[in-house]
Amino acid sequence: MLKIGVMASGGGSNFKAIIERIGEGDLEAQCKFLITNNGTCGAVSHAGEYGIPVYHISGKTHPERADYEAALLEVLDRYDVDLLILAGYMKALPPCMIARMPDRILNIHPSLLPKFGGKGFWGIHVHEAVLAAHEKESGPTVHLVSEEIDKGRILAQVKVPVLEGDTPEVLAARVLEQEHNLYWKTIRDYAATLGLS
Ligand code: GAR
Repeated sequence: MLKIGVMASGGGSNFKAIIERIGEGDLEAQCKFLITNNGTCGAVSHAGEYGIPVYHISGKTHPERADYEAALLEVLDRYDVDLLILAGYMKALPPCMIARMPDRILNIHPSLLPKFGGKGFWGIHVHEAVLAAHEKESGPTVHLVSEEIDKGRILAQVKVPVLEGDTPEVLAARVLEQEHNLYWKTIRDYAATLGLS
């Protein structure tokens, strides 16, 4: 059975959507842990509901860089997951984590990469930039994580229209709805291509 770990920082709706699909049997996987850099975020509550172990690892819990990186790697070593899933994780991963799991870390980003990706483009800022650029369409991208932020190989995208009068929040909600459909399917399909399922 496919083993995944998730990293999240915020509301955790993508994390919840994935664990619900696991619960419904659509995604044959086990979620082994949640790593967060924000011990009070919504994702932590969802993990509690589903009995998933939570590891709060951040610059606050581990002020020394070496301790911080060692704590992250220790979780990876303990569970030996097949895929690491970034679901609204708002911090760049240390290179040592990416090196530990090459082509095994997935991220979801709320724009049609390569547009509106990279440093500074996260969360609502992405949608603000899309509207400021008068784009006609937007939508989520699932991609592999590489050292360059939002530049890894694209696995899947879905387009949604940008509508007259959209605010960043309204557009974000339209994109997020598609994220919830897209992420679990992309995890399933990518795992299959790697022979993991
Ligand atoms: C999602 O829209 C996700 O694509 C985005 O943050 C939101 C998290 O929502 N991620 C990024 O911007 C990463 N660069 P959630 O916490 O409800 O899943």
